[in-house]
Amino acid sequence: MLRPLGVLGPLLPAVGWGAMPLSVPPRPTEVESGALIEAFLDLGLRFVDTADVYCTDDGDLGHNERLIASALREHPRRSEVFVATKGGLRRPGGDWVEAGSPLALRRACEASLRALGVEQLALYQLHAPDPAVPFADSVGELFRLREAGKIARVGLSNVSAVQLAEACALGPVASVQNRLNPLDLSAAEDGVLAACERLGVAFIAYSPVGGREERAEVLANPVLNAIGARLGVGPGTIALSWILTLSSNCFVIPGASRLSTYQASVAAMHLTLSTADVHALDTEFRVFWRQV
Ligand SMILES: NC(=O)c1ccc[n+]([C@@H]2O[C@H](COP(=O)([O-])OP(=O)(O)OC[C@H]3O[C@@H](n4cnc5c(N)ncnc54)[C@H](OP(=O)(O)O)[C@@H]3O)[C@@H](O)[C@H]2O)c1
Repeated sequence: MLRPLGVLGPLLPAVGWGAMPLSVPPRPTEVESGALIEAFLDLGLRFVDTADVYCTDDGDLGHNERLIASALREHPRRSEVFVATKGGLRRPGGDWVEAGSPLALRRACEASLRALGVEQLALYQLHAPDPAVPFADSVGELFRLREAGKIARVGLSNVSAVQLAEACALGPVASVQNRLNPLDLSAAEDGVLAACERLGVAFIAYSPVGGREERAEVLANPVLNAIGARLGVGPGTIALSWILTLSSNCFVIPGASRLSTYQASVAAMHLTLSTADVHALDTEFRVFWRQV
């Protein structure tokens, strides 16, 4: 299933894979992770989301990118795999701290190029605005990196509609990656999702199954479970399929550290929910703003 809008629409499947669970604690061994990524690739994985900070601390930066590079190196379909990464955070002592100065971003970009073993990053996303750095300075540096050929496309993450507009005034923005799942629809309610659709910017929903905090509650939801039971799939598949209905330029990047969850997520791409099921889920998750 491809998404009709924006520069990423023709390039990416609607369901990608968020690789974070392989590099933050508790994480599998590198051998286990390598085997898992290869299995995902064999199942057709073509869109991976990573970041330099998917690791344990500042001494481990690039862990997730190196895992992906290593699995791709020998893979016959490596040229078909779109790897999106991010810069703009650090992990001192395992915390998540903004580091969005132009110099920090330039160094992070160079480190990601080395970790991924490529000459150009397909999509480089500002992980989060840094309150200590003017937003235009951080984004401006990404556009300079693009002009220098280090990155092919500029993306943003954890931004507001106002910040998206500010970035678009500086140059072409390919994507916004914000949190979006059935229990956290703030990106749909605060105007970012609609702004992306209007501007032809891809919206990449992170933690689409609820992330660490809300995943158990999402997967226990009775409406998701009832629809899933009727259609022969799990509640996670229904949640992803429904999130994809919220906007025609929405992509989802569910995390997975098991083959079975990855397969459950890919199934969302091949499922079309009926109008009645979409309506039932809209009611359950209080989506009253959809125009049908
Ligand atoms: N930009 C940002 O600031 C930001 C923040 C957070 C995350 N992200 C990105 O978004 C990705 C996903 O977010 P996330 O890992 O926080 O949350 P998530 O995708 O909502 O949940 C991940 C967990 O849910 C399980 N799961 C995934 N798909 C499922 C399905 N179809 N059915 C049942 N269970 C399923 C997986 O379990 P198993 O591990 O057991 O397979 C996985 O570990 C990350 O990997 C990362 O790439 C970005």
